[in-house]
Amino acid sequence: MIAPTWSVRRVHALDDAQIDALAGVLIDCVDGGASVSFMHPLACDRAVAFWHRVAHGVAAGDRALLVAEDSHGLCGTVQLVLDQPENQPHRADLSKMLVHRRARRRGLGAALLGAAEATARDCGRTLLVLDAVTGGDGARLYERLGWVRVGDIPGYALFPQGGLCSTTVYYRTLDGRFE
Ligand SMILES: CC(C)(COP(=O)(O)OP(=O)(O)OC[C@H]1O[C@@H](n2cnc3c(N)ncnc32)[C@H](O)[C@@H]1OP(=O)(O)O)[C@@H](O)C(=O)NCCC(=O)NCCS
Repeated sequence: MIAPTWSVRRVHALDDAQIDALAGVLIDCVDGGASVSFMHPLACDRAVAFWHRVAHGVAAGDRALLVAEDSHGLCGTVQLVLDQPENQPHRADLSKMLVHRRARRRGLGAALLGAAEATARDCGRTLLVLDAVTGGDGARLYERLGWVRVGDIPGYALFPQGGLCSTTVYYRTLDGRFE
């Protein structure tokens, strides 16, 4: 088996260089047609502003952030939104799973997902929820790794170049309940 060319770690704070690099990953994904909250073209200052907001959430403990790096720098990321209503202390939302196009289809998405699930356990979370473009690259990844498909919401969002896309909601329990 070939050893991975990247490493995944959790970060508790972001410096400006990391924010710029994460903005680059986000812009690359939007350029590639990923429906991840932004329209195309995504300007650098808007992408940087997004990651500054994420950095505030991470510093406040509202989010857990994982990053992946390869020999060229930061190439992937995923978040857990830990800030949930007081009656859902066991839940987190998985958000902004992004792999730069240069690093795709080598197992990094699966590695990020595994690391996010381990981080959720560390944070005492046993129920994870996410949504993904129906039938997209993310949806295939989640289904392959055992996430449970709840259902589709037609016309949920726009693709970055325009045109409505359906989203599929998934959940995963980390303590084996409800599966
Ligand atoms: C979804 C996403 C994170 C997947 O990242 P990835 O690193 O390519 O994921 P993986 O490499 O683990 O798996 C992707 C595919 O590569 C395949 N693969 C994994 N390792 C491989 C290898 N060594 N050789 C060949 N293929 C491989 C997997 O089987 C999978 O195939 P499939 O899509 O046909 O099922 C990535 O496509 C992405 O960032 N997309 C844009 C943003 C986005 O849509 N995010 C999801 C939001 S919900």
